[in-house]
Order: sequence, then structure tokens, then C-alpha cells
Amino acid sequence: MTERLALPKDIERVLLDEETIQRRVRELADQISADYADVGEIVLVGVLKGAFIFLADLARRLTIPHHVDFIALSSYNRGAVSTGAVRLIMDTRAPVTGQHVLIVEDIIDTGYTLDYLVRTFRARRPASLRTCVLLSKPERREVDVRVDYLGFEIPDVWVVGYGLDYADKYRTLPYIAALKREVYAT
Ligand code: PRP
Repeated sequence: MTERLALPKDIERVLLDEETIQRRVRELADQISADYADVGEIVLVGVLKGAFIFLADLARRLTIPHHVDFIALSSYNRGAVSTGAVRLIMDTRAPVTGQHVLIVEDIIDTGYTLDYLVRTFRARRPASLRTCVLLSKPERREVDVRVDYLGFEIPDVWVVGYGLDYADKYRTLPYIAALKREVYAT
């Protein structure tokens, strides 16, 4: 309850507290470590900006050899509306051909971004390709795309914290919280 007292003014309520997130991240890391135990090394491709905190915590819990790369995208989501168009801002530093690639995302909403990523990386002929996403809003899905490792399903509310933003604010909150509707509703 002390957390609630300290909430920033735009925050409605905490959906996932720090302990709940960290427990789930540990479980995902254990699962991934077990699934990839025999493949040698994997490459985690974090999707900027939103995935940077999730990726950092997840990677540090892995017990298998791995390296980290990043890709930056922007979906043309303005307000609560997605146009489905995705723009590549920055590509990975190293080529992924022949590598075991795990795409790490903070959230899947309509699915357009993850669908774009999967199609893009598949074309680069990795040894394998899977997806790891912390949050999913199933009600919002417009494109059917496979999520191999999922943290939590959440309702269709605007969430911030743990990497997720509203107008680039609130990304470094340690919990995931719902924004007050009047902040983003037009
Ligand atoms: C968010 C999020 C995903 C995408 C999901 O990115 O990080 O990449 O939207 O939405 P979709 O399933 O409807 O495609 P955003 O464009 O907000 O950029 P950011 O990660 O830099 O905040």
C-alpha cells in the first residue's frame, strides 16, 4: 500500500508489482535456459525502446551462453490507434544468419510489430527463431503471431513502467501500472 501512496499523478493503479514481475521473469529465464540447453549460444534481440529493462533482467537470469543485440522499430501508434505500419529505425549490429535468435519484446498489442519482426528475421535464415514477450493484450490482436514465451496477459488498458511509456515517460517505474484514462483518451 505504500507503493500506492507514492504513485505518480497520471497512474490509476498498479497491475503487476515488482515482485510479481521478477518472479515471472525468473520462470521465463529458467524455461528458456532449459529449452536451449543443448544449442550452444543464443542471441537475444531486444526491441527498443520498450524491451530494454525486460531484456536486461531476463538476460541476467539465463544460465546458457548468450549475447545481446538490439533492433529499434516504431509502430505508427498515435493515441490508442494502430495503423499497422512498422518502421525500422536501427538494425541489429551483427547478422543473425545461422544463429539461434530469440526476439525479446515488452508487449504485443495488435501483433503488427511482432509479425513484422518474425517475417524480417525468418528471411535472414537463422538456425532457429522464437519470440519472448512480457505482456499481451489478447483483446487487441489483429494479426495472429506466435508467442513462444509469454509473461502475462493483461486487459486493454494503457500500461506504463518496466520499459513501457506514455510519451516517453514512466519507462523506469519498477512496476507495471495502468494509466488514468483521461491522460490518453481524446
Ligand atoms: C510498442 C511495443 C511493441 C509494439 C506493440 O512499441 O514496444 O514494439 O508497440 O504494438 P503492436 O502489437 O500493436 O504492433 P512503440 O512503438 O510504442 O515503441 P517503444 O517500444 O519505443 O515505446
